[in-house]
Amino acid sequence: MSRLVCSAAVLALALAGCGAASSSSSSSSTATTASSSSGGSRFAAPERPWGELDHAARAHHMSRQVVPAMSELFLAYAPDRYGDFGCPTCHGPDARERHYAMPSPSLPALYPTGSIGQHRAVAEHPEAVRFMFSEVTPAMQQLLGAAAYDEHTREGFTCFACHPHAADDDPLSQSP
Ligand code: HEC
Ligand code: HEC
Repeated sequence: MSRLVCSAAVLALALAGCGAASSSSSSSSTATTASSSSGGSRFAAPERPWGELDHAARAHHMSRQVVPAMSELFLAYAPDRYGDFGCPTCHGPDARERHYAMPSPSLPALYPTGSIGQHRAVAEHPEAVRFMFSEVTPAMQQLLGAAAYDEHTREGFTCFACHPHAADDDPLSQSP
């Protein structure tokens, strides 16, 4: 299981290795969402723990907090591409039929830490991976009131909350 974890440290190294980490575009931290009870977060967690919310309350938090905050990030990142940002951007065009279950099969599957596939994703989409790693993932974690990923316990919020895992027997899941 552990090899499926999207390791923050390895990913950061991979990004540094391809030079993406040195580009300074983190100025898009303009989200205006007020932080709530959850300490120093920039993004508002639900008023009650996510796990206690029913489907309607989750949908409500998505439209009240998640979509406004995330659309701001995605628009700052790529305005031409995310002009119609909304539920389907994350949940896919069949969101309703799938009852908004995550991860979304419409998002690209991600490969394990250290795999050929992970290296390829970083090499082919350095800016996107950097945006996902340093902006989207921490924002979503805060918006859900979820725990940050912990290298030691290997628990917490990762890319795989949104993206599916690539299959274990996919050749790109192997180490180089
Ligand atoms: C930035 C990405 C993103 C956007 C945009 C988004 N969601 Fe979500 N949504 C998520 C994630 C991630 C989860 C899973 C949270 C978890 O781990 O349980 C989720 C979970 C949900 C759930 C709970 C599903 C379940 O199985 O309990 C509902 C309902 C939902 N979203 C509705 C919506 C609606 C409605 C919209 C548009 C108003 C929307 N979402 C927009 C990321 C997003
Ligand atoms: C909150 C949900 C969410 C999380 C968490 C998330 N992503 Fe994404 N990811 C998306 C969405 C939405 C897109 C854009 C899909 C599109 O453009 O249609 C995307 C796109 C991508 C792409 C494709 C970029 C391209 O140009 O085609 C890659 C690669 C990617 N993510 C990697 C990651 C990695 C690595 C992580 C963890 C560090 C991560 N994502 C975390 C929602 C998420």
